[in-house]
Amino acid sequence: MAGLTNMPFRQIAIRCGSGFTTNEEIDADALIRGNAIACAMAVDDPDLEISAMQLLGNSAETLVPAAIRLVEAGADIIDINMGCPVSKIVRQGKGAALMRDVASTARILSALRREIEDVPLTIKIRGGWEDGASNAVEVAVMAQDVGVDAITVHPRSREQQFGGRAPWDIIRDVVEAVEIPVTGNGDVRSLADAERMIRETGCAAVMIGRGAIGRPWLFDAAYARLDPAGQQRYEAEIVLAHIEAIEAHFPPPIALLQAKKHVVRYANGWRGSPELRERMFALPTIEAIREAYLSGRTGSPDPAPRPAITA
Ligand SMILES: Cc1cc2nc3c(=O)[nH]c(=O)nc-3n(C[C@H](O)[C@H](O)[C@H](O)COP(=O)(O)O)c2cc1C
Repeated sequence: MAGLTNMPFRQIAIRCGSGFTTNEEIDADALIRGNAIACAMAVDDPDLEISAMQLLGNSAETLVPAAIRLVEAGADIIDINMGCPVSKIVRQGKGAALMRDVASTARILSALRREIEDVPLTIKIRGGWEDGASNAVEVAVMAQDVGVDAITVHPRSREQQFGGRAPWDIIRDVVEAVEIPVTGNGDVRSLADAERMIRETGCAAVMIGRGAIGRPWLFDAAYARLDPAGQQRYEAEIVLAHIEAIEAHFPPPIALLQAKKHVVRYANGWRGSPELRERMFALPTIEAIREAYLSGRTGSPDPAPRPAITA
């Protein structure tokens, strides 16, 4: 997830029990131009057993060299983003726009397949472009035919963005239409949700996005069995480890921003969290953020129920 699931977060998710993780989308054009932010994202962590790296792009001319570059950087899986609904992305023919012209997307995926034959090639798709006009099955069958190894389906349409309910029946339709593994995604907030998605759609795996931000311990079945004090200890340990990983990974100004971004999400749903959030964004150092988290935590031994997580 752009701006969030960078290396430190992914290390924490794995520590909590997640299977493999995918990095934030990297724009292929930016990577090829040598853009510093894109290049900084194209780095493998040898401690991550499987490193999936995702590219955004609109043509084989940049996606192919960008994919080769990621493989050289250590990517174990190359994933092509065909689901990003953001206007400035789809205006460039990237992300979910790739679902609109299936024939030209087939040519792009074929070119990628030819050039990166030793590394799994996967795609992440949406249900389709417009509500009520899903072409996920058509896209999935095309992808299988050109040699894509696996597909993740986030079944909302581009028009739906991130709102409303994710129509899981589209995941089931794709599972039934192809033989390659399908990962389901959308509205999974707990291990029980994940089990229900597998039961209802037959998907081979589940991808969790927003539900894990601020709550990476949801990947750990043991967390749910702890008493409230045990859960608080677990959470504090993870949050402090996350802040430490952020400090180790980013230069100081970016580390500060990242620590704020994630810690406000960890505090989401606490009593007084709106004030804490405001205070957090004004803090000048990571040390102050750590202290604010710990004191906010002690000040809220019985956290109020969390509101629904939003984008
Ligand atoms: C802030 C934000 C950034 C995202 N960035 C990406 C991304 O870089 N690549 C991607 O495939 N999906 C991205 N997504 C979509 C999520 O991966 C996921 O498909 C979507 O949020 C639905 O799943 P969820 O209900 O588990 O969050 C992003 C979503 C949000 C809210």
